[in-house]
Amino acid sequence: MNPSDEYRPGLEGVVATETAISFLDVDHEEIVIRGYDLIALARHLDYLSVAHLLIEGCLPSPGENASFTKGVLGHQTWEGPIENVLRNLAPDGHLMDFLRTGLSCLATYDPDLDDHSTDATLRQALRLLGQIPMIVANSYHIKHQQPSILPDPELGYSANFLYMITGRKPTIQESQAFDQLLTVYSEHEMPNSTFAAIVIASTLTDLYGALVGATASLKGPLHGGANEAVMRMVLDMETIDQVEPWLLAKLAAKERIMGFGHRVYMHQPDPRAVLMKELFQQLVHTPEQENLFEMFTRGEMVMQREKGLYPNLDYYAAPVYYLLGIPIELYTPIFFAARSAGLIAHIREQYAHNRLFRPRVRYTGARHLQLD
Ligand code: SDX
Repeated sequence: MNPSDEYRPGLEGVVATETAISFLDVDHEEIVIRGYDLIALARHLDYLSVAHLLIEGCLPSPGENASFTKGVLGHQTWEGPIENVLRNLAPDGHLMDFLRTGLSCLATYDPDLDDHSTDATLRQALRLLGQIPMIVANSYHIKHQQPSILPDPELGYSANFLYMITGRKPTIQESQAFDQLLTVYSEHEMPNSTFAAIVIASTLTDLYGALVGATASLKGPLHGGANEAVMRMVLDMETIDQVEPWLLAKLAAKERIMGFGHRVYMHQPDPRAVLMKELFQQLVHTPEQENLFEMFTRGEMVMQREKGLYPNLDYYAAPVYYLLGIPIELYTPIFFAARSAGLIAHIREQYAHNRLFRPRVRYTGARHLQLD
């Protein structure tokens, strides 16, 4: 059977799979996560409860929450082999490459690696939710020849993640802000990295391999790499008066402005950006931070006026990371750490209702050439 003529570049607007995990209800400006609104989840629940919802399909009872959290924290040991592997990577390597290497190393030690049952992949989910923050945080310390930081048993999951990055015990406000940031990044229907993960999983390869593919995808500047680029961009502008001329010059040069536009949110704001902007403002305490907030809102106004584009999550998440004292090169690895809950949920769903992804092509090359 020849392929149909229904070719959509970048699969724009194409429904690629069925899922009960999430849906971007653009008409109602709602990000649906297993029936709940993501923004409401971020405001009222902690990240691990949302991770339970994503992976197990339901909000946890208090007992289930305690057991799930205990399971995750129980895997927050720092293994020698992973540290040894990471210490042998190039010192100027990208931290997303450290992350995908750490995941590949972890895979070789996972006893459930080739078992795709729901029980086995749940055990893997707990291991990964425990280990990924440690790989993310300690990749940074290893790359900068600093000692690794282990979790403090007195702190909760998100507070510990932030503590392992900065080496400083976060305030309650900082812990809550970071936890909300992890939740808004946890799941977003079918972005390139999630699609990469389910395409890879559809061959019935292991869950880690699907995550490594998603890591490579998320590193790209058109996708997860944008949050780092946003922060570098605004710092490069230096003063509020430079914001407009800086943007106008880039637009005149037909360059893309990181943090704006979205394949799905074409004509309305990204609901997550609205929450992150609110969080950014709550974290502003000094005149310098107030000036930074004004620079970001000035940029938003210019892009809206010049291109009719709205900020996406990355635009206002970047300054939240910044005010939490997180090094810029860790923004995308943290994005991945947060998204790991959604990715694992989609990979498990793919295993449970699998059909190998194998699209066709519209051929534009030569035909009927003859060998002499
Ligand atoms: C994430 O899919 C997801 O859900 C991803 C994500 C998630 O949670 O997983 O939301 C996370 O990846 C957010 C997006 C982060 N990326 C960036 O901020 C990079 C900058 N954004 C753009 O590159 C762009 O907006 C994309 C890639 C996000 C979407 O691009 P599309 O859908 O392919 O849109 P397009 O390239 O067809 O652009 C349509 C028009 C064009 O104008 P014309 O050339 O037709 O005149 O809008 C313009 C574009 O030039 N445009 C931009 C722009 N984005 C679109 N112009 C300047 N700057 C931009 N950022």
